Amino acid sequence: MSSATTAGESIIEVNGITKTFGGVVANKNISLNVRKGGITGLIGPNGSGKTTLFNSIVGYHPIDGGSIKFSGEEISKFRVQEIARLGLMRTFQQTRIYGKMNCVENMLISVPHRKLGFWDMFASRDKETLERADRMLEFVGLYEKRWLLAGDLSFGQQKLLEFAMALMNEPTVLMLDEPTAGINPTLINGLIDRLKRANEEFGITLFVIEHNMRVIMNLAEHIYCLAHGEMLAEGKPEEIQNDQRVIDAYLGAH
Ligand SMILES: Nc1ncnc2c1ncn2[C@@H]1O[C@H](COP(=O)(O)OP(=O)(O)OP(=O)(O)O)[C@@H](O)[C@H]1O
Ligand SMILES: [Mg+2]
Repeated sequence: MSSATTAGESIIEVNGITKTFGGVVANKNISLNVRKGGITGLIGPNGSGKTTLFNSIVGYHPIDGGSIKFSGEEISKFRVQEIARLGLMRTFQQTRIYGKMNCVENMLISVPHRKLGFWDMFASRDKETLERADRMLEFVGLYEKRWLLAGDLSFGQQKLLEFAMALMNEPTVLMLDEPTAGINPTLINGLIDRLKRANEEFGITLFVIEHNMRVIMNLAEHIYCLAHGEMLAEGKPEEIQNDQRVIDAYLGAH
């Protein structure tokens, strides 16, 4: 499979969506496509509307207008749980792990939607789920740490744990909000490698918000750039990197 092309089937199609908070227009008439099986990037200065766009796509809040399709199905009126069940998952800019539980327990409670209450989830420690938890912890390089409390992991390791928790759900599409933020350069390379492997080996479509230009240029086949809530530019990494509007937006933001 070529990762150098944006041709091919779209799995997410966003058309003309708008989201306002009081007087703030966080997203204005945004349209984009995420190619099935590919890695798509989303960049833009602080406050440009990236997280809002992710929140809108996964049904975290209602949008003011526009259309969002997942695998051809209109999902803009769906709620988070329904969308997650369809296989569209996201991670958060701030990690959401349970610090007082160990890594394995965090993995187990992230297995979703088994019509269970909180304590029932611990009854779902079937062999298959436990094995999958181990395999995913191994995949992100946390197997040795699996019995440590998640709160005792380093920040970078917590991000890796969160990534592994998302993989427990076997998502079709995984949307990652700044996966490398706060991670040191040595761990970042490992994380990029894992993201690429999740894409290639597990076939998970990735949609990634990232501030680190080196990371996103290395990772994504197609990049969208927001500024002031609007779509400023889109293109291949080399096109985005040399786009004067993108350069100005970042320079103007500081
Ligand atoms: N729940 C909310 N209520 C009010 N305003 C909000 C809310 N969420 C976001 N905003 C505003 O919408 C705009 C876009 O915010 P958003 O978090 O989407 O930006 P971002 O591109 O993710 O920024 P960053 O790179 O800093 O994470 C900002 O002006 C922000 O203050
Ligand atoms: Mg954000």
